[in-house]
Amino acid sequence: MRDARAAADAVAAATGVASHDVAIVLGSGWVDAVSDLDQVGGDVPLASLPGFAAPTAVGHGASLRSLRAGDVKVLAFTGRSHFYESRDVDLVAHAVRTAAAAGCRAVVLTSASGGIADELAPGDIVLISDHVNLTGESPLVGANFVDLTDLYSARLREICRDIDPALPSAVYAGYWGPNYETPAEIRAYKTLGADIVGMSTVLEAIAAHAAGMEVLGISLVTNRAAGLGGRLDHAEVLETAAASVERMRALLIQLLPRLSPAT
Ligand code: HPA
Repeated sequence: MRDARAAADAVAAATGVASHDVAIVLGSGWVDAVSDLDQVGGDVPLASLPGFAAPTAVGHGASLRSLRAGDVKVLAFTGRSHFYESRDVDLVAHAVRTAAAAGCRAVVLTSASGGIADELAPGDIVLISDHVNLTGESPLVGANFVDLTDLYSARLREICRDIDPALPSAVYAGYWGPNYETPAEIRAYKTLGADIVGMSTVLEAIAAHAAGMEVLGISLVTNRAAGLGGRLDHAEVLETAAASVERMRALLIQLLPRLSPAT
């Protein structure tokens, strides 16, 4: 396993901030949603930190920022390493483990996804209530039988609903990628109970939970999933995200200051 302690020490040295309270991982199109928050110091390139690699997906940044949301010290990752980039599960989990070692007690995992449930349309923001991990992988190794019954924190979802009572819950299917799903796969995942599908979140969520963090998953539906709408295209994903950025920003600006650690 990569050395999260060494990475967290490097984060403290690079940001000048000894510890952080909450981490946020910014998925496709989400980075502009935090641009109004005060930033302490400059952007820290992820590739300059021990164990990290620069994310390669278009629409993702490749840096880390120390932000302030009220009294809450937020460690923001402007991009993430996806499983499909390297098939290196330990690399995928390294950001959240580093956040935990940096003091974060909660992590917000944001993403873009395809809508499977009939009622979910492009532009909808949903709260992840559970997942189906389709990758066949876990970030945990060894006889580490972590309970995932409450993987996605009900407490943190309640805080979101206090801000916007209309936010729906969704079960996230974590696909391996980088190809999109087939229509037959989407029909299968619907019968498995999935409401949305994406290529991130699940492995990070497991690693974060195992590291003792509360996990909040927020996804922007950017398209109808394969076979349920038109053809799939990453440019369309980014276009929908750009069109939705004000609502994503409004949610995060109200949410992050309220994410002080559970007592
Ligand atoms: N499938 C997988 N990942 C995605 C999708 C999708 O339809 N949309 C955005 N990310």
